[in-house]
Amino acid sequence: MPATQPRSSVTVRVPAKVNVQLAVGPPRPDGFHDLANVFLAVGLYDHVTASRTDVPGAPGDRGAPGITVTCTGPGSEHVPLDRANLAVRAAELLAARHAIEPAVRLDIVKDIPVAGGMAGGSADAAGALLACDTLWGTATPRAELLDICAELGSDVPFSLVGGAALGQGRGERLTELAVTGPFHWVFALADGGLSTPDVYRECDRLRGDRPVPAPRADPALLDALRTGDTPALAAALANDLQPAAVSLRPALAATLAAGTAAGALGGLVSGSGPSCAFLAADAEAAAGIAKTLTDSGTCRTARATTAPAPGATTVPTVPTVPTVPTTIESHA
Ligand code: C5P
Repeated sequence: MPATQPRSSVTVRVPAKVNVQLAVGPPRPDGFHDLANVFLAVGLYDHVTASRTDVPGAPGDRGAPGITVTCTGPGSEHVPLDRANLAVRAAELLAARHAIEPAVRLDIVKDIPVAGGMAGGSADAAGALLACDTLWGTATPRAELLDICAELGSDVPFSLVGGAALGQGRGERLTELAVTGPFHWVFALADGGLSTPDVYRECDRLRGDRPVPAPRADPALLDALRTGDTPALAAALANDLQPAAVSLRPALAATLAAGTAAGALGGLVSGSGPSCAFLAADAEAAAGIAKTLTDSGTCRTARATTAPAPGATTVPTVPTVPTVPTTIESHA
């Protein structure tokens, strides 16, 4: 293909995250909570392919304007395919910023658990944004892309950036953090999701009238990330949303206990849950913990992976996904 010919299709790979510290302040007047949110990107990925639908013969060619979405992979039947999908909103916002009439098909291949507290929806938004920006040649400056991400949701900027970062404000104001890997993680995945607003509401309810300190990043945890000290990171893991997630899904207590009993150095609910994250000493220990957790019956399945992972990145193609695909499709 000559270099001058516009690309008809762009694929972006985008990582899941775990919050190694999630300190939650009191509710704000706008309904959000101030956070000290230490994000770490992990090696479970969704892929988002943006294809032009206004180029005859292109992979997404339907001769139709607008934004079309498909979603494939575990849990994809629960992913909305209209404007409730943040990937659609990302494409709309980018098109509006550049006064483009969008004519694009977004194919989302999920490997990040849906509604699992691992920022899968945010990942798809960041992926769609980068894929469309590349497809349309709009070359949006990074700072503007991050602004659009923040407009889409509190976790979306981090999905673009990856690595490790401290999120303040409602989580969208990012400071990148030094991190030395690899850290070996195991994720216990649950059946069904938890609603993030419900978990925040339950957190407020459980706290009642108790005074809540201003959220602050733990210096020992930041040191552990910087130096690659797995036992110190395990000791510092903290999630203020965990009691709320366990209150709404009491079975998570057994999952957390099973991970620790299997030899994890530390464990916690990932974000608003229900996925649980466990830190292992090395790759071999992680594989063993994943197997024990899967066999324990306290989760649907468990996956071992490493961190940090890079943020949203363009890749040549979507790798073959070793899952039973469920494809649903609609026009947004
Ligand atoms: O920003 P995002 O759309 O991901 O937030 C989803 C919901 O989670 C919000 O509507 C709010 O109920 C809750 N939330 C919060 N405080 C934050 C982030 C999210 O209360 N800092």
